[in-house]
Amino acid sequence: MSDEITREFSTVGVIGLGTMGAGIAEVFARNGFTVIGVEQNEAGVQRGREHLEHSTGRAVKREKMTTEQQAELLGRITLTTEMADLAVADLVVEAVVESLEVKKSIFRALDDIVRPDAVLATNTSSLSVTEISTANAKPGRVVGVHFFNPAPVQNLVEIIRTVVTEPDVLADVQGLLRSLGKNPVVCGDKAGFIANTLLFGYLNHAVAMYEGKYASREDIDAAMRFGCGYPMGPLALLDLIGLDTAYEILDTMYKQGRDRLHAPAPILKQYVTAGLLGRKSGRGFYTYEAPDSPIVV
Ligand code: NAI
Repeated sequence: MSDEITREFSTVGVIGLGTMGAGIAEVFARNGFTVIGVEQNEAGVQRGREHLEHSTGRAVKREKMTTEQQAELLGRITLTTEMADLAVADLVVEAVVESLEVKKSIFRALDDIVRPDAVLATNTSSLSVTEISTANAKPGRVVGVHFFNPAPVQNLVEIIRTVVTEPDVLADVQGLLRSLGKNPVVCGDKAGFIANTLLFGYLNHAVAMYEGKYASREDIDAAMRFGCGYPMGPLALLDLIGLDTAYEILDTMYKQGRDRLHAPAPILKQYVTAGLLGRKSGRGFYTYEAPDSPIVV
């Protein structure tokens, strides 16, 4: 596939300025783009502004940015509650709550707002990009762009192409993300995309191994740390992610793909039901002295 950019991107709209949207707005503003951030009300705008100020303020403290650069960056971002302000956007990235209905209503509304050649992207982590795209009159210009959290730090972005995404839209988004210093990878529209499909299959297998008393939790984790060079073993990583979150992700992937790799190991559900959620509750596969503290038992 050609990597040549056929579109000029200079103004980027971001809808939803929560954890991901604020981070995505920062990524584009850091790279000189004009950003229009849209929230649903003034309180949302205020939260988004605080998030941006806090995140860039941290970069200043760590001497990764000067206060002048911070002011310039923030000056490139306009925050608004008016979707109509996106009329000038070359690209719109939607990062609102993970609800199919809310996302579809936004892609429907964008029809009457953005230019016909504007590219539309959704940051969904588990919903069908194809289904979201059909709410728009031009689904061929819609892709998924799955940024990782925190967006300004994580280099991977998964681009999800649907069966109707136009090749030039895909190539342009790939080129754009590379120009931001990201590593874009492309995959089809299936829950989990590349990274979570592989990661959670592996994590689930580790749980099944533990559940079957094949090896101790310490030995399973040690094998992957010292044998494969992973920074954390799978069971410690699951405790960090949260066993409830991990269960939901596996369950969604299993229901969609019916790949038994993703059928949640029964003990995972039992732990969640019993309130053992990992670090955040003080106990999961390991026990922690206080929520979010290192392993003690
Ligand atoms: P969040 O709950 O922190 O932020 C969502 C924001 O959208 C809120 O500020 C809310 O006020 C705003 N919003 C809701 N409806 C709106 C509307 N109609 N117009 C404008 N703004 C609206 O959620 P978060 O975590 O940032 O997730 C956003 C999306 O990114 C979801 O689709 C999620 O699945 C995905 N995602 C989340 C990751 C994470 O680690 N949190 C990682 C990668 C993707």
